[in-house]
Amino acid sequence: MKSNTGALVTALIAVCSALPTSDYQPTYEPRWNESVGIENSNADFVSSCGPDWMAVDDVFTNNGAIHRRGYNTAVDGFCDMAHGKLVGAENQKYLSMATRVWLSGGGRPEEYGINGYVYFEVHNKINGGHTVDGTKCKEYLKKMTSNSVNGKHCYGGPQPQGSHATLGGTWQVGSNDISYHAIANKIPPINEQIDNVVLTHDAIYDIGRDHGPFLSPWPLHQFNDAVPVNCHSHNDYMRDKALYSALMAGCVSVEADVWPHGDKLTVGHEDPGPNGPTLDDLYLKPLLALIQSQDAIFTKKPEVGLDLLVDFKSDPDKTWDLLIKTLAPLRDAGYLSSWHHGAFDYQHVTVIASGTALVDGPAPEPLAKANSDTANPAHAVFVDARANKPLRNFNQSNTYWMSASFKEAVQRDPGPLTPYNLGVMRAHVRNAHARRFKIRYWDIPDEGVWQHLVAEGVDRLNVDHLESVAGLDWYL
Ligand SMILES: *[C@@H]1O[C@H](CO)[C@@H](O)[C@H](O)[C@H]1NC(C)=O
Ligand SMILES: *[C@@H]1O[C@H](CO)[C@@H](O)[C@H](O)[C@H]1NC(C)=O
Repeated sequence: MKSNTGALVTALIAVCSALPTSDYQPTYEPRWNESVGIENSNADFVSSCGPDWMAVDDVFTNNGAIHRRGYNTAVDGFCDMAHGKLVGAENQKYLSMATRVWLSGGGRPEEYGINGYVYFEVHNKINGGHTVDGTKCKEYLKKMTSNSVNGKHCYGGPQPQGSHATLGGTWQVGSNDISYHAIANKIPPINEQIDNVVLTHDAIYDIGRDHGPFLSPWPLHQFNDAVPVNCHSHNDYMRDKALYSALMAGCVSVEADVWPHGDKLTVGHEDPGPNGPTLDDLYLKPLLALIQSQDAIFTKKPEVGLDLLVDFKSDPDKTWDLLIKTLAPLRDAGYLSSWHHGAFDYQHVTVIASGTALVDGPAPEPLAKANSDTANPAHAVFVDARANKPLRNFNQSNTYWMSASFKEAVQRDPGPLTPYNLGVMRAHVRNAHARRFKIRYWDIPDEGVWQHLVAEGVDRLNVDHLESVAGLDWYL
């Protein structure tokens, strides 16, 4: 895992650069005076743009299947709620709210993006109060979706045609009196500021910060519009908020690379040392809280659980025992899938041990432990078998996934799949499903083949770029 402060710093830089300080000077350059016929205006203008692209209109992704909320809808929701509110009375200089928006990342929003938030803020810098007028509020904030505005334009930009996106930004009412802000963010502030108008002396990011780091407490009810998709969020160490981003993208599977240290499992692609972030803090506690709160991982499809792939990076024997110990609260609550009375019992979370745990041959320790009543209480941890290796020791009682490197097992070089490649893949899929295993590939050379894998019935697709999942015809 990278530092947890990365996203926070990004958010702060974004908000700080957008929010005027006391000695703030407008940096207005009248580049668009031609189109609006205003010359050298220093009042009523767009003074800055935000850091991330948001889809302007609502869109349907995943081949028309999943509805995503665009900027304009978010603005309407905010301004309707803010209408009539007095900003500036009794030292409450800020009015703010964060709400769902589709972050399109500069791609075509129908095919590319991830669920995120837009933070709205009205900042009153004059002495008198400012009452928000809903209609004006919409007019100001929608300046960010126009090419012909006074000041910077935050619409469009260096993106493919048809992307119809905005960076959000700041509209100055008057010269430096009252400003309306719309800033995209991948993660939510604390719960009270989501879909709730807040009147305060502090900017929205200050309020969030007062309550500790972002995502702490875990934003329990913020997953209610995530629609599950059969992706496996891979290379999670590349993301600051791995579990959170995976769930936002709707991935039904996440990966954590673990290292045993003392009585803890720490998480990191490289060994983070004994003080690194733990599996418990980053994954297990949030999952327990989420399931306790909504009795589901994805409220839109409560019957769909999450696969947690635990990649053993060293000392499989010790790692296994620590994993079993750490899983106790989830296991005792009955939230883990298990092998029970000779049948597979599917629950909210299915834990799969992978990495050094799955070598076939003379039964290695972890597989022996998976088979053992004492080393695997409730038989609630499964292993990941290799698709292109002997499978004799693996069966549904101890195995949930069957995986292979796409490059090794199916196709060496990127490019269109040949009939031979497809034949190999079909054989893997048939073999896995006959054994009631899920089949997954890693090292997929080219996103262009994703849809073919989906069509062939591959169950879990390793995804490094979560935004690309929106292009798949593969929701559950
Ligand atoms: C736009 O502003 C620039 C810089 O102030 C000025 O040189 C130019 O004449 C203006 N154009 C129009 C059409 O007003
Ligand atoms: C599954 O395989 C293990 C060997 O790894 C074996 O001990 C066990 O009996 C098998 N269970 C079933 C249900 O086939």
